[in-house]
Amino acid sequence: MKVEGKDYRTVWMEGDTVCLIEQNLLPFEFKIFRAENYKQTCMVISTMIVRGAGAIGATAGYAMAQAFLESGNDTAYVEKARQDIENTRPTAQNLFYAVERVYRAGQISTEQAVIEAQKIADEDAEACKKIGELGNDLIEDGFNIETHCNAGWLAFVDYGSALSPVYVAHRANKKVFVYADETRPRGQGARLTAWELKNEDVPHVIIPDNAGAHLMSLGKIDMMIVGSDRIAANGDVANKIGTLEKAIAAKYYGIPFYVAAPTSTIDFNCASGKDIPIEQRHEDEVLYQSGPNAESKLERVLIGSPGSEAFNPAFDVTPAELVTAIITERGIFKPAELAAIRN
Ligand code: MRU
Repeated sequence: MKVEGKDYRTVWMEGDTVCLIEQNLLPFEFKIFRAENYKQTCMVISTMIVRGAGAIGATAGYAMAQAFLESGNDTAYVEKARQDIENTRPTAQNLFYAVERVYRAGQISTEQAVIEAQKIADEDAEACKKIGELGNDLIEDGFNIETHCNAGWLAFVDYGSALSPVYVAHRANKKVFVYADETRPRGQGARLTAWELKNEDVPHVIIPDNAGAHLMSLGKIDMMIVGSDRIAANGDVANKIGTLEKAIAAKYYGIPFYVAAPTSTIDFNCASGKDIPIEQRHEDEVLYQSGPNAESKLERVLIGSPGSEAFNPAFDVTPAELVTAIITERGIFKPAELAAIRN
């Protein structure tokens, strides 16, 4: 996708350096972060300089490739690196998918590890492009679409999952309007989705997280499309905290609830959503918010009552029965049909 007329991916590799758009600074500052070794790349994932299922996956794949490049054929170094990378964020299936593939390729040669990491990134972008084309068919002219969190191109290598069909529909001159849930505590909707939509000139508005059901009750939402961090074999879907509430409200009001995700997000080893590990993040993400001060410097302010603790689960699981269909690069499937694409 383009930023000020220049094509960018969310993450890419230059030599043995992993380059990423610094997402913690967006939408206030656009900056590229350069991670020089696998340990720095791990830090980038855990501090959410990069985030979103596909982008985390590609970054983890590159981190694994960096580990091979650094290892000098020291197996223990590679094993430790694999553990470190897998410990950065527990929910995103794409991370484990990418690490496994690059690790296996690295058993052949370091060069193969680097090639495989690049292949994973390219496949992610291709899959998201296809999701956009297929998902576009579900969007009618004049549709109002609600989305939660950021499953746009910043959450992948390019194009995005939930937002990819929106971009295709918009470019096809369909009239689409997006309600972007702000997505507390980190505000991926208010910051990242809104920034992406503005860059693409897609009409949109940011709504408070608790406004979705109200808008649905007024008939203002035609469909919901969200992304996913991990999909279980039975079609249960883990996504950013707050997704479950939206899915329940959508079911109540008879609004189609779509999940858009590449097949690399499906974890057939998880029989149901109960098996999906849910990341707990630091309470400070709830207690503090950051934004630019009068001098345009990012500043953190306390927004909770001093002394109170916060609880911060990063994801929830939406049961398959609330999901209308899952838009993948291989087609659009009802949750119960997922088993058919296992290979
Ligand atoms: O914690 P994050 O920002 O990495 O969360 C991941 C997400 O961006 C969302 O859950 C998203 O909706 C699905 S991942 C494309």
